[in-house]
Amino acid sequence: MSSLFRTKSIEQSMRDTDEPGQKLRKNLSAFDLTVFGVGVIIGTGIFVLTGQQAAKNAGPAIVLSFALAGVVCALAALCYAEFASTVPVAGSAYTFSYATLGQFVAWIIGWDLCLELALGAAVVSRGWSAYLQELFDLPNWLAGDQARPDFGAAFIVAVLSVVAIVGAKLSGRVTGALVIVKVAVVLFVIVLGLFFIKTANYTPFIPAAQAAEKESGGDAPLLQVLAGITPQHFGWFGIVAAASIVFFAYIGFDVVATTAEETHNPQRDVPRGIIGSLVICAVLYMAVSFVVTGMVHYGDLNTAAPLAKAFDLAGQGWAANLISLGAVCGITSVILVLLLGQARVSFAMARDGLLPPVLAKVHPRFGTPWVMSTITGSIVLVLAAFVPLSELSELTSIGTLFAFIVVSIGVVILRRTRPDLPRGFKAPLVPFLPIVSVLASLWLMLNLPVVTWVRFLIWMAVGLVLYFAYGMRRARLAPETTSEVDAPST
Ligand code: ALA
Repeated sequence: MSSLFRTKSIEQSMRDTDEPGQKLRKNLSAFDLTVFGVGVIIGTGIFVLTGQQAAKNAGPAIVLSFALAGVVCALAALCYAEFASTVPVAGSAYTFSYATLGQFVAWIIGWDLCLELALGAAVVSRGWSAYLQELFDLPNWLAGDQARPDFGAAFIVAVLSVVAIVGAKLSGRVTGALVIVKVAVVLFVIVLGLFFIKTANYTPFIPAAQAAEKESGGDAPLLQVLAGITPQHFGWFGIVAAASIVFFAYIGFDVVATTAEETHNPQRDVPRGIIGSLVICAVLYMAVSFVVTGMVHYGDLNTAAPLAKAFDLAGQGWAANLISLGAVCGITSVILVLLLGQARVSFAMARDGLLPPVLAKVHPRFGTPWVMSTITGSIVLVLAAFVPLSELSELTSIGTLFAFIVVSIGVVILRRTRPDLPRGFKAPLVPFLPIVSVLASLWLMLNLPVVTWVRFLIWMAVGLVLYFAYGMRRARLAPETTSEVDAPST
């Protein structure tokens, strides 16, 4: 039982990063991290969900949904920034949990992060394939929603897995180029769109609440079901329901923390990368949603490519292809960074013995966790090629929000248990801010559909079985490496 709650000391985590054969190359700067963050944040969320949620749940007030989701993320980002500057080790929320809440919670979080990273990569690669099909008018059997297997999704996952193995610097360059294209396209949407705004489209800004039509119980937000409220769209409930769905668009700033170990000066640069990329994306998202709902009536935006549709309806069809191109580039870097993040989290777990240690091998030439990247890539490829995933983006969101909660709690615990540690960045107003962060993330989770909760609980139950069957017995953490031994009192 005691191993369940045994924590891994920060010093031990840092020493592990120096073990020969398990050492990642340190060559990323604050700028690289910000680009990396924007690379993973801007993707299907802004290109698809904005219009769909405006049409279904929020109307022009989708801007408020983006603002709400952005505030929840900002609270969590401050906690991630403190943690990553204190424990700059690959593994992000997994490593943080091991240091504060013990092995059991660390496993739970490592398992949970698969929803954000591996499942997220597979979900997003299906979106990539759909946009590619639209852009080049590819046959239905080759790419897009109806293709089984989806060769487009499988292709992009295979190519990006190789890029991930060849090196962090190459991944950084590929991401950098893609980020330039997608930010340019997003700015293009904002600037050109401004000329086509009709102020009449903003009235009503918050459409009146309407009872949901014939919706099955599973699609209703859990909170509305628990509170016995008839499921409804629009109004204030609609804004919050949309916030919990467009939250997906912000996923990624936390993935910046997984690269802490590969950064020159992680104490300073990781907080800058996390907060910088989040702020840039929040501003762009609010601007895009404001412009697009001003260009056309929100009711017209319920399509797979709403940004392109808005320009079509404004008589600017030529812009639609450009936007699809931006979406394909944008989504490519999201997949790459999610794959990198998954490989690093599993690498950290294997290094700790919670997964077979052979998985923690680093490539002698490229300095990347190539075994883990190959396995991650293969699993994501199979998922992306064969499993219908379009509805699973909410499962990715719930998994990410759960990790936010654990990290926020961890910040408070680490301040108490290890006040002596140097902290390159300190979140303000601790413990007040992390507590608000926990409540805010929980609130968004409760606004996700009932069916998402059921899937989430099943996934976590499978994780528990695996932990007791393997991880708990094999964990490498010998008693002498635990925090009790490293604590200042000894
Ligand atoms: N934030 C990423 C996206 O919107 C996951 O695609």
